[in-house]
Amino acid sequence: MTAMPEPLLSLRTWLEKVESIGELRHVKGAHWDVELGAIAELSYQRPKPMALLFDDIVGYPSGSRVLTGSTGSARRLGHTLRLGDDLDDVGLVAALRGKPSQWKAAAADFPAETVTESPLLENVVEGPDVDLLSLPVPRWHDRDGGRFIGTGCFVVTSDPENGAINGGCYRMEVQDEGRSATVNAVPGKHGAQHIQRWFDQHGRAPVVVSFGHDPLLLVTGGTEVPAGISELDYAGAILGQRVPVLRGEHTGLPIPAGSEIAIEGWLRPDDVRDEGPFGEWTGYYSGSRRPAPALEIVRLYHRDDPIQLGAPPGKPPHDYSYMRTAMKSAMVEDALNAAGVAGVRGAWAHEAGGGRLFIVVSIEHRFAGHARQVGHLAAQLPAAAYMNRFVVVVDDDIDPRDLGEVVWAMCTRCDPAQDIDIVAGTWGSKLDPMLLEGAPPYNSRAVVDACRPFERRSSFPAVSTGDPAYLQSVLDRWSEVFEH
Ligand SMILES: Cc1cc2nc3c(=O)[nH]c(=O)nc-3n(C[C@H](O)[C@H](O)[C@H](O)COP(=O)(O)O)c2cc1C
Repeated sequence: MTAMPEPLLSLRTWLEKVESIGELRHVKGAHWDVELGAIAELSYQRPKPMALLFDDIVGYPSGSRVLTGSTGSARRLGHTLRLGDDLDDVGLVAALRGKPSQWKAAAADFPAETVTESPLLENVVEGPDVDLLSLPVPRWHDRDGGRFIGTGCFVVTSDPENGAINGGCYRMEVQDEGRSATVNAVPGKHGAQHIQRWFDQHGRAPVVVSFGHDPLLLVTGGTEVPAGISELDYAGAILGQRVPVLRGEHTGLPIPAGSEIAIEGWLRPDDVRDEGPFGEWTGYYSGSRRPAPALEIVRLYHRDDPIQLGAPPGKPPHDYSYMRTAMKSAMVEDALNAAGVAGVRGAWAHEAGGGRLFIVVSIEHRFAGHARQVGHLAAQLPAAAYMNRFVVVVDDDIDPRDLGEVVWAMCTRCDPAQDIDIVAGTWGSKLDPMLLEGAPPYNSRAVVDACRPFERRSSFPAVSTGDPAYLQSVLDRWSEVFEH
């Protein structure tokens, strides 16, 4: 009997490639309870973090695996985004320039395609027999409130009015000894809006979740793809091929055929369980244990020897902070250009701010008021509005990725009394370590104009570095001084 070919977006195909470029390491014998997460955390802090494939996890059969660090290097992220297998950090940024708007425009040409066969159907477990803890679900951090199966997951919902599909990455904690899992989508996220609409109109919401797939679905599900566009179709635009999907037997929702593990079921507004805390991307545990809707799982599908795609957050750098920074930076720059803003030269959503809290945009400063326009827009773009805290606008002689240069510009081209605008009542989160327990999840943000004042551009003190051409000629003449 010939084996079924690997479907598009199979994690196994992705792993083969990553292994062939030397970016995968195998780890055997780690414990699911904190040890696996600690190994992953130590790895993120290395200068070149590898993807780690955990097997022989204590208490579980060989073959039942967990992957971490999938998108943590330019080569792996470049491959995942089908931009090239040899990119370095600078090459990845260049390759990403302009791509989000191209993918957005092309998504309609790559609607997900329904298929009827997939290795995912190797094991189908019906409702009462479902046990998520038959899988080695990690407790990632030592103060986590439970075991989180949903970190690199892809949660599929639909709009009850027009059937539009959304795929989002929302954390999921195992509940009821493995019979259920809570879905923690922040209000305002597209999936959360879908679920609320289903609750209002039908009293329950159908949901499908994939827990192991080509990390492209982690990237599209975990990044602010514009509203109304299915992340499956957006992934199709990135691939240049339609994504094959099975249809959930009970919900009719699409399940990526390349998935390793998937569930389908129903959320109900009054069926909640306490979940959290969880070590989050801000670098802190996310407050107290709070109620979240729990999924009534009607089916579990999994391949033989299934692989969970883990993506645990934490104090940056964490599992997906590199990916978040690269994608968010490209999306912010792209959205500013698409809005018709002049002179945008680059944007960078710094990893230290989890790719959300601290965004720098460099501009060719063209008119009085330009810097403020860019700053306020950047702070409120759909790609950036959730949990931004600082936007800094700098002149185009400043590299927005270089924190030393950005701080120098803030220190020398910005008068705090005049050049920092504070906007309150903006889109915050219960994950915000600054939010008081029980307070509504607003935050505030500062838009920092760190450009030379427009009217003083020609009279502003000259930067005291040598002329680049002259410095180069000196370097050529005195090269022995600089030899080590
Ligand atoms: C690994 C990972 C975990 C995430 N966890 C959550 C979460 O628990 N809740 C949430 O609302 N967003 C979470 N996000 C962010 C959302 O996935 C992101 O905002 C995405 O754009 C949501 O999709 P949507 O805009 O279609 O709703 C996570 C992202 C990643 C990559």
